[in-house]
Amino acid sequence: MIILKKRKEIEKIRVACQIVAKVLYEVSQRVRPGVTTYELNELSEKLAKKEKAKPAFKGYRGYPFSLCTSVNDEIVHGLPSRKRVLREGDLISLDFGVVKNGYYGDAAVTVPVGEVSEEAKKLIEVTREALYRGIAKAHPKYRLFDISHAIQSYVESHGFSVVRDFVGHGIGKNLHESPQIPNFGKKGHGIRLKPGMVLAIEPMINQGTYEIRILADNWTAVTKDGKLSAHFEHTVAITESGPDILTELK
Ligand code: MF3
Ligand code: CO
Repeated sequence: MIILKKRKEIEKIRVACQIVAKVLYEVSQRVRPGVTTYELNELSEKLAKKEKAKPAFKGYRGYPFSLCTSVNDEIVHGLPSRKRVLREGDLISLDFGVVKNGYYGDAAVTVPVGEVSEEAKKLIEVTREALYRGIAKAHPKYRLFDISHAIQSYVESHGFSVVRDFVGHGIGKNLHESPQIPNFGKKGHGIRLKPGMVLAIEPMINQGTYEIRILADNWTAVTKDGKLSAHFEHTVAITESGPDILTELK
C-alpha cells in the first residue's frame, strides 16, 4: 500500500530532508585525505543533535552507525571505522537519514577524496545525472518504471551498470515504505505516479559488473569485481506539476 501524503505532511518531511541535506553538505566538506570514516560518522551525529533530529539508520535492523560510508568498491552500507583512513584518489558515498517530528528524510552523495582518476569522476557525474534523469520522471504523467528506465538507459549508454540488489523506496512516517523503486525497468510500466507520493530515489552504479557481494560484517555491499561504485539519493515529493526535491539544500 502506497501512503499518499498531504501538503502539510510533505512540509514536515521537508523539514527532516533539509536537515539531512545540511548534514550531508557539512560532512562532505570534511572529506579529505587523512580523515577516518569514523570521524565523518561522529560529525553527522553531532550535527543531527544540533538540529534536534534523530539519525534514522542507527539501530535500523541493527545497523550500528548513523552514517553509511562506502569507499571505492563499496556500494552501500559501508560501516564507519577508526581504521578506515581516506586516501587521495578514493571515492566515498555518504548516506544519511534523520527522523524529525515523526517524519523521515533520506539522501546520499558520492564525493571524491582529493584528486581522483578521470574514470572515477565520470562515474560520479553519470550517477548524479542518472538520479536527476530519474527525478525528472517523478511526475503524475508518468509511471513508476519510467523513473527506473530513465536511470538505467542513461547509465548503460555510458557503459556503466545498475545494481539490482538494492532499490529506492517510498518514505514518510517510515524510512522504507512502498513502492520499491528499482533503478532498472521498462518504460511505460509500473504503477501510475500520483501527487502526494514521496519517493527516495537512489541509483547505485558500478563501473564493471552489477553483481554484488556482502562482506563478513554482514552489512557492507561491494562490487563482485572490485571495481568502483557510486551512489546518489534524493527524497522527492510528486506534485501536480512534477518533482519537488526535498533534500536539495535550500
Ligand atoms: N539510504 C539507505 C536506505 O534507504 C540507507 C539505509 S542504511 C540502514 O536504505 F542501515 F538503515 F539500513
Ligand atoms: Co534510501
